[in-house]
Amino acid sequence: MERRTHPQSTLFVLFGAAGDLSWRLIVPALYRLYIDKHLPDRFHLIGVDRMPLGPEELARHYAEKLAESGEDIEKDERWAGFCRSLGYISGDLKDPAVYRQLRTLMQAREQEWRESCQQVYYMATPPFLFADIASNLGRAQLHRDRKRARIVVEKPLGRDLASFQAINRALTEYFHENQIYRIDHFLGKETVQNILALRFANSIFEPIWDRRYVDHVAITVAETLGVEHRGSYYDHAGALRDMVQNHLMQLLCLVAMEPPAVYDADDIRNRKMDVMHALRPIPPEQVAQRAVRGQYGAGWINGCRVPAYREEPGVAPDSDTETYAALKLYVDNWRWQDVPFYLRTGKRMAADVSEISIRFRPVPHRAFPAAGSEDTHPVALTLRIQPEESIVLHFFVKEPGSRARLRRVRMDFNYLDAFKVATPTAYETLLRDVIAGDASLFMRADQVEASWRLLMPVLDTWSDTKPTDFPNYAAGSGGPEAANILTAVDGHSWLTAF
Ligand code: BG6
Repeated sequence: MERRTHPQSTLFVLFGAAGDLSWRLIVPALYRLYIDKHLPDRFHLIGVDRMPLGPEELARHYAEKLAESGEDIEKDERWAGFCRSLGYISGDLKDPAVYRQLRTLMQAREQEWRESCQQVYYMATPPFLFADIASNLGRAQLHRDRKRARIVVEKPLGRDLASFQAINRALTEYFHENQIYRIDHFLGKETVQNILALRFANSIFEPIWDRRYVDHVAITVAETLGVEHRGSYYDHAGALRDMVQNHLMQLLCLVAMEPPAVYDADDIRNRKMDVMHALRPIPPEQVAQRAVRGQYGAGWINGCRVPAYREEPGVAPDSDTETYAALKLYVDNWRWQDVPFYLRTGKRMAADVSEISIRFRPVPHRAFPAAGSEDTHPVALTLRIQPEESIVLHFFVKEPGSRARLRRVRMDFNYLDAFKVATPTAYETLLRDVIAGDASLFMRADQVEASWRLLMPVLDTWSDTKPTDFPNYAAGSGGPEAANILTAVDGHSWLTAF
């Protein structure tokens, strides 16, 4: 699935260069790409931020993060080489003068290199700045080369349908859709990309990948982490906006989509859009039956006492924000009619588990004698995204020595064991794709919009009705009881017990 050719010379402009996202994820990923020789030979990273810093101070700030992994980065020749490509402009991101300065700097680089370069504009800033940055880039004529100028944005892309549309209008005023790269970092994860390979590079799965054989699908993204230092952002978002609207919907699309004709950005995204179109709406009167919310109280994680959500820094003491969300969805099309897709995600759960479990129908007639309780679980294929990246098939065999007693066993494929190399981080994959101009792993506007549209009745109903039972799950538990009922009424369970 290697889709890249040698990347063209690139001017990479990082808005919000002194901020947390740049420090934690973007610059470390760019540095890894540099070490692995995946960056173009001519690459210039231009940080832009309010902080009055010089490039040396900025480099020292980045080095602190990289040193966390035990590297003696300051003495590393490669780090020195990477830092030579680093420039910095300090100024207000709303000020047009900053963009004139940027243009001058970019032109100087192009003159020095005697070539026109690609331009990547990465907005590692709070979303309220997206519109200002995009229109300033436009007014400075920095957007004009449709093939070579790209803008990268990251969630939160709005907090509802209307605010997403407003952000999108601002981006598209100057930039064309194919210049806009909307990051969902889950799509950069190796196992997530592997869903398509598993389904469409093997002939054995596709014939059983439909309502005739699949009983239901369960998607879980559970984290032991709480909201850490992000309380003030999270308290205005909640689990549905933070995780379901983007990451879990993307996973659902990859599981449910039809095969693309070619492995190409538009074809893949069209097939995902077909899924979004087919999702059965959740009218307000069905929200109670098809959606569950939860908030964690105090509890224990890995032997440590952790506070309740309402006691976290930045969170209102009477907050009604959900830290857990579960949904029951249906894809109303020929392939999936009436197969439930259960989605759940939560903070401060008992374990870090991200996985997609495809449960197959029971055999039509069971000739074997009734087996132990364990055997009531179905045959299932589990695609594990975290913590370890693996694919596991659960199926039945005869227990040794017994006449006909069955036992459920597992057949495992583990990425690390098979390939013996660490997989690239999601940001390495996605940044490499941005530089290569490959948008397959990025979200198109229509898909983001369709996801907001689907979830709006749930968001509205939840904001109109105060939860009376919050906190309704203890930190370190498996989430609220109502989520178990969501599946149990259909005779199913989440299977992954915490
Ligand atoms: C982010 C959410 O998008 O994804 C976080 O904002 C969440 O709340 C994170 O913790 C999970 O991503 P990962 O890659 O750590 O599993």
